[in-house]
Amino acid sequence: MARPTWDSDMRSAALATLDSKQWVKGAQGSAFGTEFAEHCGALTAMPCQNGSSALWAALRIAEIGPGDEVIVPSFTFISSTTCVLLVGATPVFVDIEPDYYCLDVEQVRQAITPKTKAVIGVHLFGQVYGSELVELCRKENLILIEDAAQAHGAAQTYADGSTHTAGAMGDIGCFSFFPSKNMAVGGEGGMLTTTQTQFQDRIIGITNHGRSPDLEAIQLGSNLRMSEVSAAIGRAQLRHLDRWVARRRQHAERYSEALVNQPLINAPRVRPGSQHAWHQYCVQTENPTQLIAHLDERGIDARRYYTVPCHRQQVYNTHHQFNTELHITERAAASLVAIPVMHELTADEQQQIIEALLDYR
Ligand SMILES: Cc1ncc(COP(=O)(O)O)c(C=O)c1O
Repeated sequence: MARPTWDSDMRSAALATLDSKQWVKGAQGSAFGTEFAEHCGALTAMPCQNGSSALWAALRIAEIGPGDEVIVPSFTFISSTTCVLLVGATPVFVDIEPDYYCLDVEQVRQAITPKTKAVIGVHLFGQVYGSELVELCRKENLILIEDAAQAHGAAQTYADGSTHTAGAMGDIGCFSFFPSKNMAVGGEGGMLTTTQTQFQDRIIGITNHGRSPDLEAIQLGSNLRMSEVSAAIGRAQLRHLDRWVARRRQHAERYSEALVNQPLINAPRVRPGSQHAWHQYCVQTENPTQLIAHLDERGIDARRYYTVPCHRQQVYNTHHQFNTELHITERAAASLVAIPVMHELTADEQQQIIEALLDYR
């Protein structure tokens, strides 16, 4: 399901950084932040430890805490929602769109209360949310935190013709560089981005104990810094990101063309105007267990994701929505299967997967 790239440039970048003995707080981290911000069109970006600490930091920067509500999806990786608990606020779970698996904007609208401070929009599987969510948050004066952990290189063209890249589609963006992601850093890693001048200094400071440039702690932060070696590897990987995402798009197109001839497996849909980053290519089928067993017999790896929606997991057993049914979420949890779409997938491997999919009865 994942095959991270490790080439001689990345190896040289890592070794040169080790040789320099500047292992923390150096030029690699700051260059990685600058280059990442340029790539996604954000005002500023700051490398950090991982996607989960980026989410925690985003909520802290937005000054969200006890008494506040944050609207989140339930069909996502657990840390998109537990970050809200970690700052003492309350996640409010809403359902997702049936076709794209991002937050259902109408349900977000209905979930807003005087306590709502922010929305965490997840670009699930590499499909970004639409401009309607951005407009709603702006109109309601809510902070939009982008969980872009799965969406490096994704973009959306809005109705006015402007195109926005993941990381610059909200107020604060959070990325993960976990090895299976569209790009990685040779270990754990994350990135914070912002489009807002008011958060610019804070996303830099929060990763370094909340200190200002003259080393006074002016906000609550921690040591969330990325190591210099990881940043150097990340810079080398970033140079390939567009090409890798283009490969994922080619794979996705090929799968979707083939699946037209398979009535038991539905190809994923793409939001109009969207440039999907295809972190995962998830097909929809009546019997996911049977499809996975069929692929497994042919030596093909396939996975189900988020089969227990977040709000139904034990960590939420005292949450008022623990027993709430979110219909589209439940349906997605029961019917999706991810098949390999990584950029390193070869044409032969993909052909075998397509043949296996078409053989499924
Ligand atoms: C949607 C989403 N959010 C957040 C995270 C957390 O990222 P990390 O594993 O780097 O902490 C992930 C990682 O899998 C993710 O997929």
